[in-house]
Amino acid sequence: MPFNLKGRSLLTLLDFSPEEIRYLLDVAKQVKRESRSRLRTERFRGMTLAMIFEKRSTRTRLAFETAFAEEGGHPIFLSPNDIHLGAKESLEDTARVLGRMVDAIMFRGYKQETVETLMKYSGVPVYNGLTDEFHPTQALADLMTIEENFGGLKGIKVVFMGDTRNNVATSLMIACSKMGMNFVACGPEELKPRPEIYKKCEEIVRETGGSVSFTPVLEEALKDADVVYTDVWASMGEEDKEKEKIVLLKPYQVNKKVMEMTGKSETIFMHCLPAVKGQEVTYEVIEGKQSRVWDEAENRKHTIKAIMIATLL
Ligand code: CP
Ligand code: NVA
Repeated sequence: MPFNLKGRSLLTLLDFSPEEIRYLLDVAKQVKRESRSRLRTERFRGMTLAMIFEKRSTRTRLAFETAFAEEGGHPIFLSPNDIHLGAKESLEDTARVLGRMVDAIMFRGYKQETVETLMKYSGVPVYNGLTDEFHPTQALADLMTIEENFGGLKGIKVVFMGDTRNNVATSLMIACSKMGMNFVACGPEELKPRPEIYKKCEEIVRETGGSVSFTPVLEEALKDADVVYTDVWASMGEEDKEKEKIVLLKPYQVNKKVMEMTGKSETIFMHCLPAVKGQEVTYEVIEGKQSRVWDEAENRKHTIKAIMIATLL
């Protein structure tokens, strides 16, 4: 094993080196091959994974639960209605108890501080399954999908269209920067990447040879893009801002014309899903030949299994 990631948590990809990300992607490729040949191993036999969800999920829950269970482990789904999560008992105390009973914790919810506290007080690996700030396991699956399409990552141009400061855009920007790719955030000025993370990415690309930029101008962003990526206009927890965000983001819808603006027929379309068809992306694009959204969704499982193999065994 070239890297020893045992015991590590994944709270944000900022904490992982390009070599460590490369290693996780290689493990993911291997488990995808195994899954295709229907090979069953029991890597997580006798282990338990607590999965805490403050927000809804289809892909992330399915990916963690099926990846852990098919390797012989026992995943435990916990909603805030089931456990004391900061109510009646402090989060620190819940984390301590979890750490005494389970081998790892997955958390999806609002605050990034929650995953940080869970890690600090549980003493077991914690996986961020999405917070308001980051969605690192999504970005790993995105890298895997891009690599499958282009045979490599370095120099690939990825354009994120829409709310470029949301969790998915932020994690994708970090992932692309780490892997020496060219990331362009394209959206309204009001929804620019968060300055502190953008600055960090500028520092990262100086080392990795990639680039990171922001522009509200579609023509400028899309020229020669290999990947056009988008996400919902209103994220979970922002329901009250939906109306105003629709107005801001309407010019950034990914439609046929936008895909043609890349000037390349081999450009692919990606979306973390769930998608609101007709809003951030047209039916024609998401269901069209350039769309890779179902491969991307499947790759959530392989990359998540890879993270758990690398950090638990
Ligand atoms: N992409 C993603 O995280 O999907 P879910 O919200 O369904 O988990
Ligand atoms: N930005 C979206 C991603 C869903 C996977 C949200 O947070 O709701």
